[in-house]
Amino acid sequence: MIIEALRLHAFRNYRDAVLKPHPGMNLFFGANGSGKTNLLEAVHYCALGRSHRSAADRETVMRGETAAACGVTAVHRDGTRSEVSIRLTPEEPRKKQVFIDRKRAPRIADLMGHVRCVIFSPEDLQLVREGPAVRRRFMDMMISQADSGYFTALQRYGQALDSRNALLRDTPKGEALPADLMAPYEALMAEAAAVIMPKRLAVMARLADAAAEKYAAISGREGERFRAVYSPCCPDPAQLAALLAGRREEDRVRGTTGLGIHREDIRLSLMGREMKLYASQGQVRTAALALKLAQMDYLAEAAGDPPVLLLDDVMSELDMNRRTRLLREIGGAQTFVTCTDESDLEGLQDRRTYAVSLGEAGEGIVRETRGGALLPPEAVPEDPDFT
Ligand SMILES: Nc1ncnc2c1ncn2[C@@H]1O[C@H](COP(=O)(O)OP(=O)(O)OP(=O)(O)O)[C@@H](O)[C@H]1O
Ligand SMILES: [Mg+2]
Repeated sequence: MIIEALRLHAFRNYRDAVLKPHPGMNLFFGANGSGKTNLLEAVHYCALGRSHRSAADRETVMRGETAAACGVTAVHRDGTRSEVSIRLTPEEPRKKQVFIDRKRAPRIADLMGHVRCVIFSPEDLQLVREGPAVRRRFMDMMISQADSGYFTALQRYGQALDSRNALLRDTPKGEALPADLMAPYEALMAEAAAVIMPKRLAVMARLADAAAEKYAAISGREGERFRAVYSPCCPDPAQLAALLAGRREEDRVRGTTGLGIHREDIRLSLMGREMKLYASQGQVRTAALALKLAQMDYLAEAAGDPPVLLLDDVMSELDMNRRTRLLREIGGAQTFVTCTDESDLEGLQDRRTYAVSLGEAGEGIVRETRGGALLPPEAVPEDPDFT
């Protein structure tokens, strides 16, 4: 899959920007705070309907504006095109609207699969170092892009979970929990878990093997066995409703639901020891990169077409061995790379280079450069919010 055009309107610090990227390597360089990551974030929005940072939609709307939009034209392997755009209006009742081929799509799930991306960033180290939420998000964003049914099940699960938690919290002290209201939510959670858990299990088994291989290849040490094991919340999703029913009082004390797919984790270990506790800095980096490379292969295989790769600030973070390894793995996939120093990517052939800078009012300006000279900006479409 190739992004043929990327458009932004009142998105972060971009008033209006249009890019026609190269089908191979695209390099964005510019000072800190100029708007490089914002461009990658816009691509991520078009793939998953949300930011890759933990940012709220509201933060992405240009200061002083009430609506932001971003969109891409994607060309698929069979030559067909998808035109995808997202309009964010955090102050309105319909906060997020998705358009596919210029028609409003009823659900965010409809977005999945049109644009697929994998982002590499220094925050990937959190995959190893932080708590389970980071790893769940990694797993969910990966599987959702290949399977919109998974995404829909996650949404249904989340809604039922929120409702159950509200009952736990809002039932006055001294009153019995309303079993007749809680049971239907627990049943909905179990129903969604019956879709989610087998998919997590199958995808993570594949991913674990691939990640172990990548780890061995990057580290060059056969003996350092890296394992990524998905640990389900219960042996069988069919038991979940009963398990939840049995722990209502316990959850009430906790103030939240303590069991379910929203608490699952991927356990990372090296030679049988938990990585978070034992791994060195370099081993953490290798593991994070191995997981991301495995994710990239999974998405390429699942769709029969490589995803777009977004490399945010990672080049300067990687030593030569990992950098070479990453560039080799990228192969022919379309790639967007950001860096503050163009020399980080010396030696890369066949690429398009963009200079990212700030205008007088702090607005982002992105211009292609060739031989050190700036090319004229791409024409902005007439209807800048493409809707
Ligand atoms: N909602 C918004 N409205 C206007 N400007 C914004 C908004 N959100 C972020 N910005 C601006 O965007 C800029 C940050 O952009 P971005 O994170 O893309 O920078 P960057 O080029 O990736 O920097 P670094 O090299 O430090 O990673 C900052 O100048 C910030 O003030
Ligand atoms: Mg950045």
